[in-house]
Amino acid sequence: FTASLALAQGDAYPSKPITLVIPFSAGGPTDVVARSLGVALTKTIGKPVVVENKTGAGGTLAAGYVAKAAPDGYTLLLHHNGMATAPALYRKLPFSPLNDFEPISQVIDVPMTLVGRKDLPAKSLKELLPYLKANAEKVNVAHAGLGAVSQLCSLLFRQAIGQNFQTVPYQGTAPAMNALLGSQVDLLCDQTTSTTTFIKADKVNLYGVTTTQRIPAMPDVPTLAEQGLKGFNMVVWHGLYAPKGTPQVVVQKINTAFRAALKEPAFQQQMKELGAQIVPEDKQTPEGLRSWLKAETDRWGPLIKAAGVYAD
Ligand code: MLT
Repeated sequence: FTASLALAQGDAYPSKPITLVIPFSAGGPTDVVARSLGVALTKTIGKPVVVENKTGAGGTLAAGYVAKAAPDGYTLLLHHNGMATAPALYRKLPFSPLNDFEPISQVIDVPMTLVGRKDLPAKSLKELLPYLKANAEKVNVAHAGLGAVSQLCSLLFRQAIGQNFQTVPYQGTAPAMNALLGSQVDLLCDQTTSTTTFIKADKVNLYGVTTTQRIPAMPDVPTLAEQGLKGFNMVVWHGLYAPKGTPQVVVQKINTAFRAALKEPAFQQQMKELGAQIVPEDKQTPEGLRSWLKAETDRWGPLIKAAGVYAD
């Protein structure tokens, strides 16, 4: 009976609007991606896809909400690396990223950029590293709060240069960027979806991209790795999830519509302009996302534990 009921639900799906929950605030990098994706998915799935921002607790509030939502395909979650880092960052996490969701697909990869306030005397990474040493006591690095990818990037940078510095948490990406533009902080490592505008307007110093290869959107900008920070590798990846127990027939329907959405020209164009890369087709699968989430959980857990950053 349950199987036939699930099949019947699957046949009718979708019969009403779908809510795409995102864990971060309007206008931020994740929101920019989700809005563009919502438009494309509305077209390919045939019902309105409405983006809902549920902010708080480093993204774990939204993820916990979707984990407990009805498993019927009408409440979905778009989240980034935070799904892999939450178990190490939050000691009392009320859900399991690996066990409480049906992964649907990976989405896009977004490179990050290390940028500095415009009036910082160091104009290149080569000048920045000795500057950081000489000013170790007073250098400040902004980030968008516990669990933000900008925080992860700052941890990785600290590890790569083998030197400590002050980090300053803000309530989100926009306030962190504003603090940098206002010269209240020295550095910020953030997603190209958020920094591209300010880089193009020459409002910040740019020290490099965080990926292992240079990115097509900024071919002249060197990677941090090629400038001596060997192996530096930070990519913001995104996944689409449904609550655990969503019928497989519904998961498949969402996956099919989602893959078509990733091919929508307007979405592709927007992502390209922001330096984001749509993932290859073998990652646009439940299994592709499941195994990647596991690998990333294993990568970040020890690094976060070693850095000693967590919430009780
Ligand atoms: C956002 O959309 O605000 C960001 O993705 C937050 C972050 O840095 O993780």
